[in-house]
Amino acid sequence: PPLPTDLVAAIQALKQELNAVILAHYYQDPAIQDVADYIGDSLGLSRQAAQTTADVIVFAGVHFMAETAKILNPTKLVLLPDLAAGCSLADSCPPDAFAAFKARHPNHLVISYINCTAEIKALSDIICTSSNAVKIVQQLPADQPLIFAPDRNLGRYVMAQTGRQMVLWEGSCIVHETFSERRILELKAQHPTAQVIAHPECEEGVLRHADFIGSTTALLTYTDTHDQDTFIVVTEPGILHQMQRRHPHKTFIPAPPRDQTCNCNECPFMRLNTLEKLYLCMRDRQPQIDLPEDIRRAALQPIQRMLDLS
Ligand code: 13P
Ligand code: SF4
Repeated sequence: PPLPTDLVAAIQALKQELNAVILAHYYQDPAIQDVADYIGDSLGLSRQAAQTTADVIVFAGVHFMAETAKILNPTKLVLLPDLAAGCSLADSCPPDAFAAFKARHPNHLVISYINCTAEIKALSDIICTSSNAVKIVQQLPADQPLIFAPDRNLGRYVMAQTGRQMVLWEGSCIVHETFSERRILELKAQHPTAQVIAHPECEEGVLRHADFIGSTTALLTYTDTHDQDTFIVVTEPGILHQMQRRHPHKTFIPAPPRDQTCNCNECPFMRLNTLEKLYLCMRDRQPQIDLPEDIRRAALQPIQRMLDLS
């Protein structure tokens, strides 16, 4: 059948029909954020997925997020508009190689950033997100050797904040590694009163110039609680939609990519989801997220530990 002319109305109608909840990450296209029931960072989205009483969770985000929703709430139907919406961080950590890495570091506790596959979660002791990584590491016994995976930038940031040594898996996010120190310095020179706010997935040289570092929700909250009229925002620019909406009189400057001929500061995976695909996944009840029960159970434990510790 042809697409309805009013996709938003059609999505709202399907939401009623399916008793569905639409969860969206801040990096989603603004049109998707506008139809969502809840917009949040990885931790907020996980909590929503765990708590919801809806029958269907429509996840407007990337695969590891929808998979986490299914792990937490397995009786729900979890839909992802495009199954190809992956994540370079999750891809940078294949389970076989990670299991071998883990075996080379016996006695280490494994802390994994939620941006990883269910198989990696199943090989981990505790999961964290960018909003609770520091807090979680601080709660671990000082003499406990630690592995942190898969994001080396977040890992390095957590080490600097906690003074703990950790063995890092060398993964990274292609979006956050596109920002350059030189371009941030140029922007700062052009806007001397602006505050630089950055996501901890950025490289050390970029984070050095940030006035504030935090998860997407923390960055948004920072702009709510600080009076500056200009912010240089060093993360995926999807987050600017909520910042601009809440503060129409403030100026939010998205940090540009190193190579200004591309728009590679936008996450190519997040942006695979469109309003059309959101509608179609609800209409067709697919693509659905499914995973083997043994992996799901093993992955649930470290996620549950995170929720208990944060
Ligand atoms: P948060 O929204 O948890 O800060 O994560 C950012 C991100 O890269 C999600 O893929
Ligand atoms: Fe993964 Fe980076 Fe995209 Fe987040 S922004 S989904 S970490 S590739």
